[in-house]
Amino acid sequence: MPRIAYVNGRYLPHSEAAVHIEDRGYQFADGVYEVCEIRHGVIVDLTRHLDRLDRSLSELSIRRPMSRPALAQVIREVSRRNRVKNGLFYLQVTRGVARRDHVFPSAETPPSLVITAKITDPAVIAKKNETGLKAITIPDNRWDRVDIKTVGLLPNAMARQAAKEKGAQEAIYVDARGMVTEGAATNVWIVDKDGVLVTRPAEHGILRGITRTGLMDVTAKFGIRVQEREFSRDEMLSAREVFITAATSICFPIVEIDGQPIGNGHPGAMAERIRTSFFDVAEKTVI
Ligand code: PDD
Repeated sequence: MPRIAYVNGRYLPHSEAAVHIEDRGYQFADGVYEVCEIRHGVIVDLTRHLDRLDRSLSELSIRRPMSRPALAQVIREVSRRNRVKNGLFYLQVTRGVARRDHVFPSAETPPSLVITAKITDPAVIAKKNETGLKAITIPDNRWDRVDIKTVGLLPNAMARQAAKEKGAQEAIYVDARGMVTEGAATNVWIVDKDGVLVTRPAEHGILRGITRTGLMDVTAKFGIRVQEREFSRDEMLSAREVFITAATSICFPIVEIDGQPIGNGHPGAMAERIRTSFFDVAEKTVI
């Protein structure tokens, strides 16, 4: 079955879907995006993803491409046309097409909207949860506004590539003070030496992950205490558990960082407990 993409008002075969060469997303990374999980035929936490999209757009003064109900309708349509039962949709909005100039084009320039969807294999994800992942640490060299989900992901792509070249699957950023910020495409959590679940505050220095917020709901439901505080690379390396969260992976255990085993070197109980309840607690929107 051919994949279908939505591009500026049209549903096109994936292989023919394209944007103009002077799209500002292409030339300046002048755009924002969302990635959202689809599981068992429902979209997970759509409202929060669209709320964050609105925030990203407003922080960059990019116009909304359409109303929220219309956008939700297109997202469902793309997911349906690609027959995604388990997978992801990807949505990108840029400031649109304009003659190249650093200064923003006129306010009438229509934003560009692209939506794609893809099927993922739950067995592959289950395997990663079973074995755990390896990570490296890397200096955080990104700009100051990583709270905005922009398509300017070159540092993140370079960090993931560096991880791959070292036989790891994620790169964890550490700031100039030795404090962990987040993963190249994930938020980072630890279970500290006292057994307390800790994650960095999302006010500054990280993206406020929707999965992170969803896991807070899960912990609240089970009365698991979460401390939002900074933690250092050293504390992470000596933690009982480390795991990473994102819409693409929900909650992957990290069993080795920079060649050192975490805890007993196996996936921990906390990550599993939270992960197995995540879907029950999350908002579900039927495709
Ligand atoms: N990345 N931090 C960064 C830098 C991210 O890129 C992501 C998600 C997260 C987790 O956010 P959420 O829980 O809302 O997915 C944190 C997406 C999945 C990506 O770029 O593919």
